[in-house]
Amino acid sequence: MLKWILKHKFFLLWLLLTAAIGGYYYQLFFMSEDKTALLPGLTTDGHHQIEMQCSACHTEEEKENVFTSSGVPSSACISCHGEALAKFSDSHPVRKFKNPENIIFTSEIDALKCVTCHVEHNQKVTAPMGVTVPQDFCAHCHEVTLENLDSHKDLSYDTCHTAGCHNYHDNTDLAPSFLLKHYGEPKLLPEFKERPLSSDQPCPDPWASAESCASCHSDHMHEFQKGKHGMRLAFDNLSPMRPELARAPMKKSAAHLNMDCTSCHQPEKPQGFAAYNACIQCHDDTHTRNYTDSKHFTLWDASKGVSGVSCATCHMPKVENEGGGYHVSHDNSANLKPNEKMLRSVCTDCHGLQFSMNALADPELIEANFSRNPTVAHPGIEWSANAAIKRGNKDAKKIRDYLQSLSKENENNKEN
Ligand code: HEC
Ligand code: HEC
Ligand code: HEC
Ligand code: HEC
Ligand code: HEC
Ligand code: HEC
Ligand code: HEC
Ligand code: HEC
Ligand code: HEC
Repeated sequence: MLKWILKHKFFLLWLLLTAAIGGYYYQLFFMSEDKTALLPGLTTDGHHQIEMQCSACHTEEEKENVFTSSGVPSSACISCHGEALAKFSDSHPVRKFKNPENIIFTSEIDALKCVTCHVEHNQKVTAPMGVTVPQDFCAHCHEVTLENLDSHKDLSYDTCHTAGCHNYHDNTDLAPSFLLKHYGEPKLLPEFKERPLSSDQPCPDPWASAESCASCHSDHMHEFQKGKHGMRLAFDNLSPMRPELARAPMKKSAAHLNMDCTSCHQPEKPQGFAAYNACIQCHDDTHTRNYTDSKHFTLWDASKGVSGVSCATCHMPKVENEGGGYHVSHDNSANLKPNEKMLRSVCTDCHGLQFSMNALADPELIEANFSRNPTVAHPGIEWSANAAIKRGNKDAKKIRDYLQSLSKENENNKEN
């Protein structure tokens, strides 16, 4: 018997291994909740929280191609992102490239498909914001622009969207007409914009269970599920997000906290808890820790949370309701990337556009949580103004004066 075993040891070993591996995969595919081992690589930061929900992207529609490349239809992406892309009028929507005039552009870059620029599970090629095409891809279609514009002649091809000047999708806050409209604004506007909430009634049931909040506040829950805080709650079989599952730096003490309505809304806590103290239960990165050094915090703290700028002012801004008035946006990702989205939804309520753009183009200042003046000068307004002067714009003199004051201001800031 022992002899027989020794003689067939390789065969037996193979049999054993096959059974083990087979059993392992069987268990994974059909029984286990954890499908991590089936993933071909690390999922992007945008989607890591829902990576176990393979069918969210690998849909029935593409059943034959499931788990092969080109197996993810754009319709899957659009089912989650379409509404937001449409809201700010995407500069490069699919329909633009279906237009016969522009079809020629798609020969090299198939802009009709989301996966041309956003593949998944491939960390090697993934740049910030889940972009998986080389940084200079804009030039494939816009080489002529780069050559024809004086201001753009000397720019390298990869700066179009990495320098905070243009985006592929959302250019609302970078359109030349918008920039020109706001030239000459001071650092602080003489009057801050107010955003009154459409309802200021107290909650009749603030001690309800987290699950039941949504029975009365379904709109807030719906919005919550679109951002990184609530995205897992869009799926019945996923637990709420917890700091221990995060990639971003979190406090160890918060590892097991569930992210739901009651993480921030705790009726026994003082006013303003939800807007700052709640956040620092979990978040523990440099930007978060530096917030208390900023004038924004000093003002907020001194007013007991009535004015000034809290974490929530920037990350959960008040947004307009369809029927007028405002509510607090519970999609904490909506205005974050690219960060110019924050210009209109937050900063320009109080600051001039140039100051705000300078601040958002300064990564070190963001890390310092805006606790000093910016040291970066965003060239966008200046270029738009120069172009307007060249066109013989009737306000040319005013614009020129402004440009002079600007360069002086920048010098002063650098000295300080
Ligand atoms: C957020 C959307 C999303 C989720 C969730 C997702 N995938 Fe993918 N997956 C993609 C995209 C996009 C591609 C690239 C498709 C292409 O290149 O056309 C891809 C490609 C793949 C590939 C082919 C890789 C290759 O190199 O060809 C496999 C295998 C795969 N996914 C497995 C999975 C498994 C298993 C899960 C669940 C555990 C999963 N995916 C969850 C979006 C997703
Ligand atoms: C089930 C809904 C869902 C599907 C399907 C989905 N996404 Fe997302 N996606 C999200 C959420 C939620 C986030 C995180 C919040 C945010 O950044 O908007 C996100 C983030 C992103 C980001 C930003 C990443 C970052 O690091 O800032 C990109 C780009 C993106 N998705 C593209 C796609 C593409 C392309 C597809 C299709 C292959 C897709 N998504 C499919 C829900 C989805
Ligand atoms: C030709 C390349 C390209 C194609 C095609 C493309 N994207 Fe993007 N996408 C980008 C780039 C570049 C960014 C980085 C931010 C920017 O420049 O707007 C981005 C950013 C994003 C973001 C995060 C930033 C934001 O503004 O919300 C989402 C979400 C997104 N893309 C979804 C999609 C979806 C859905 C599709 C398909 C309908 C798609 N993208 C097709 C290049 C592309
Ligand atoms: C597949 C081809 C293609 C690629 C790649 C591409 N574009 Fe475009 N882009 C176009 C076309 C076509 C138009 C429309 C031109 C027109 O209407 O005159 C356009 C228009 C624009 C506009 C005008 C904005 C608007 O809202 O009308 C800007 C800005 C722009 N692109 C920037 C970029 C940047 C930045 C990138 C890279 C991140 C990029 N484009 C990549 C084809 C492309
Ligand atoms: C029985 C329905 C109901 C339930 C359950 C409920 N709410 Fe409310 N809530 C309301 C109404 C009505 C208002 C008044 C404002 C309005 O009309 O939207 C309100 C107001 C609020 C406000 C703003 C005013 C304030 O008191 O701060 C918050 C925050 C709030 N609810 C959070 C919650 C949370 C969190 C839960 C779950 C723990 C919850 N609510 C459960 C009905 C409900
Ligand atoms: C990350 C923290 C956070 C979470 C989680 C959160 N909220 Fe809020 N919520 C706030 C902040 C900040 C305000 C602004 C008022 C304040 O400071 O208390 C607010 C205000 C509200 C208001 C009143 C203002 C308005 O928009 O009408 C309601 C209602 C509300 N939240 C419901 C909910 C519900 C329902 C959930 C769960 C789906 C939830 N919140 C989860 C932070 C949060
Ligand atoms: C219960 C813990 C918890 C609380 C409370 C909390 N967060 Fe978060 N937050 C998280 C987790 C977990 C993530 C996801 C990180 C990841 O996926 O790596 C996150 C993500 C974020 C992001 C990144 C969004 C993106 O799209 O990349 C921002 C911004 C943010 N939180 C701001 C806040 C603010 C502001 C508050 C208070 C109003 C707050 N958070 C309260 C746990 C928390
Ligand atoms: C004046 C506005 C402002 C204030 C106040 C503010 N933030 Fe931010 N926060 C930003 C900007 C801008 C970014 C960077 C977005 C980018 O460029 O990617 C950011 C980034 C973040 C991120 C990282 C998101 C990511 O995935 O890269 C987290 C988490 C965050 N903030 C949490 C907080 C918390 C918690 C507080 C309060 C202690 C706070 N922020 C206060 C504007 C602000
Ligand atoms: C509610 C009004 C308000 C909003 C919204 C706001 N700020 Fe501020 N900010 C202020 C005030 C007031 C100061 C203090 C100015 C002073 O004392 O000179 C300040 C100071 C600053 C400073 C520091 C300047 C210094 O002298 O130390 C920076 C940088 C800054 N804000 C950037 C931003 C950015 C970027 C945004 C948007 C993401 C923003 N702020 C949103 C009101 C606001």
